[in-house]
Amino acid sequence: MDRPRRLRRSPALRNLVRETKPSPHDFVLPLFVSEKIDQRRPIASMPGVFQLSMQGIVDEAQRARDVGLQAILLFGIPEKKDEQAGGAYAENGVVQKALRAIKKKCPEIVAISDVCLCEYMSHGHCGVTRIDGDHFHVLNDETVDLLVKTALSHAQAGADLVAPSDMMDGRIGAIREALDANGFDQTGILSYAAKFASVFYGPFRDAAESPPQFGDRRSYQMDCANAEEALREVALDIEEGADIVMVKPALPYIDILWRVRERFGKPTAAYHVSGEYAMIKAAAEKGIVDERAAVLEIMTSLKRAGADIIITYWARELAEWTRN
Ligand code: PBG
Repeated sequence: MDRPRRLRRSPALRNLVRETKPSPHDFVLPLFVSEKIDQRRPIASMPGVFQLSMQGIVDEAQRARDVGLQAILLFGIPEKKDEQAGGAYAENGVVQKALRAIKKKCPEIVAISDVCLCEYMSHGHCGVTRIDGDHFHVLNDETVDLLVKTALSHAQAGADLVAPSDMMDGRIGAIREALDANGFDQTGILSYAAKFASVFYGPFRDAAESPPQFGDRRSYQMDCANAEEALREVALDIEEGADIVMVKPALPYIDILWRVRERFGKPTAAYHVSGEYAMIKAAAEKGIVDERAAVLEIMTSLKRAGADIIITYWARELAEWTRN
């Protein structure tokens, strides 16, 4: 009887037959730019992650390119917040200014802009809210109008991809239509298509200064119990014109990631989110896991499960760790 060979005898042999080989091109680095600072400011719950000044973000984009990354994802922290998220779609808003500055210095980097209102709303929700007694509603269509303005202003400022992360219904179609009508038919849409209401976004809300001041996001983000619904959400976004679809968070939703990639065959992204980052950092600081080995195992698993693109706060380090 022929015995199966395992081909594991040496590192070179293992490399030769390895199915999943992460490379610097797989990773996207999220960056936070704040109008309120002129020195970088550390995020307490995310060691190694900073809010950056306008100059800082340009330097960081260049650094990302220099280590071999090809894409960044931008989040903005405005000077002022209000109830209409005015800063989100201002021509001279924080993200719009950052996009212009980055594209001037570093035109080859793929600039992805997060399109959401929560950082710009005084109440921290991702949309326009109405309060009825002790209930609040997020008004879907009023919110979509503002998201369209936001996405268009990002495209005008030079975004290569706009990435709506709000989870309102119908926003992908509305944004696609507005981009096309204004001559931005080459600007793509990376849709946060299956975005689950998650405890793992906690540290991000410190970084982006966007925690909801009342209630939570469960009326517009997905229930972690639902897989079929996630697939329907993704199908809708693709129908409406999404070029890339995202599953978020990453590791707890790896089954969704696999099914989305298998079923639709679209470029598929996974967002390894702030809480997932913070957990490994905390364990590594205590000496419980080896950071590099843990991160490489997670990223390889996400790729194996179908991620074409991985958004991660370790992108810079990963560019180095996966170069060879
Ligand atoms: C904005 C947005 C959030 C994240 C990305 N875009 C926060 C949220 O929905 O509460 C989370 C990213 C992370 O945790 O790393 N809506």
